[in-house]
Amino acid sequence: MGVTIDLSRAERWLGEEELAEAKDRAADLCRRLYAAEDKENVLGWRTKENSVLELGKIQEKAEEIRRRADVFVIVGVGGSNQAARAMIEALPRQNGPEIVYLGNTLSPYTIKKTLDGMKGKSVYIDVIAKNFETLEPGSHFRVLRQWMEQEYGRSDLAGRIIVTGTVGSRLEEIAGENGYLFLPFPVPVGGRYSAFTPVGLLPAAAAGLDIEAYLAGMEEARKDCTLHPEDNLAVRYAAVRQLLYGKGYDIEMMVSFEPRYYYFTRWWVQLFGESEGKEKRGIFPTSSVYSEDLHSIGQYMQDGRRNLIETFLSVKEPGASVVVQPCPEFRDRFDYLDHMDFGTINRAAEEATWKAHSEGGVPCIRFLADKVSERTFGEFYYYFMVSCAVSGSLMGVNPFDQEGVEEYKRSMFEALGR
Ligand code: PA5
Repeated sequence: MGVTIDLSRAERWLGEEELAEAKDRAADLCRRLYAAEDKENVLGWRTKENSVLELGKIQEKAEEIRRRADVFVIVGVGGSNQAARAMIEALPRQNGPEIVYLGNTLSPYTIKKTLDGMKGKSVYIDVIAKNFETLEPGSHFRVLRQWMEQEYGRSDLAGRIIVTGTVGSRLEEIAGENGYLFLPFPVPVGGRYSAFTPVGLLPAAAAGLDIEAYLAGMEEARKDCTLHPEDNLAVRYAAVRQLLYGKGYDIEMMVSFEPRYYYFTRWWVQLFGESEGKEKRGIFPTSSVYSEDLHSIGQYMQDGRRNLIETFLSVKEPGASVVVQPCPEFRDRFDYLDHMDFGTINRAAEEATWKAHSEGGVPCIRFLADKVSERTFGEFYYYFMVSCAVSGSLMGVNPFDQEGVEEYKRSMFEALGR
């Protein structure tokens, strides 16, 4: 197992008996999650069989993209781009195309800047849109297609466009009519649970990431959750955060001392925010990157209202070494750092923060990866999805719908005359 959880600095706010009861309830929900029949068509993410579709086609196309593209554009929003982006931004990559994101904004400045930056380059795009109704990816697909037609002409267009949507959607028809590669977005997998479907797999493979290791991580976590529903990382996390929520801790901030985990924390915010924030309930998820944000939000964490949970996303292996070399003649008063590696300095800052905040009254939870790798991403994503499903059910909400998002879309479509 490449990832673990430390709840010692959160459990001290909880009684032994209530903790045991909450764990039992969470374990029961975990068992039921795997025993359930999926009548509502929302549980496909539980297994590889229902998520990992068309792997052969994905790998073949990814190789072509890596050979021929200077730029690969991931067109998607919310659950349709976050998982892939989090991995691509966090993991080292060798060669391959520059990865660019569109379909996630309505800002003309950003759209133009992105298009201008691609001028004269060989561009491939993957349009990811479950039902092909969302404004951002749908409108950007049109803009990109027209831009690409001007750049390459019709004959060299089809091979550069991949679309990922549900079977039977207009997107699939468009793919058929124009000769684009179509990849399935499985119906029983919602956007924010789609990390192991073609939604996450093609972008990750095109970026040159190790898909086998990623799926091995998923499988390891899946086995753990199915074989040990009574005590696994997902169940323990769900039980503790729900108990804390019941005691008035209604904001949870995921923090990391690794800026490369920034997009991972955004994926987590989306997963929990969209799954739990409903019916006037839910823990408000947010995120920060330390040590930078210690100089802003750190003040509040230490000394503000005590309704906060702080969840650390930590990693054992820093992945690089930078040693501070002595420089006595400069007399900058930082000589106490001589010969120290930034790995040690960063760890010391993290330990100090963990201690100071928990002693200041913040329940702290720590997830620890042995290294930032495809495998630990696979484990984390799977555990968090199970935990979110369990946690949402403990809270009494449906973790798989997002009616609140639909509401703003309805009034926006009205304003735009759709
Ligand atoms: O998790 C979800 O379901 C959402 O965040 C969707 O992924 C997001 O709204 C994008 O939807 P679509 O893929 O249909 O464009």
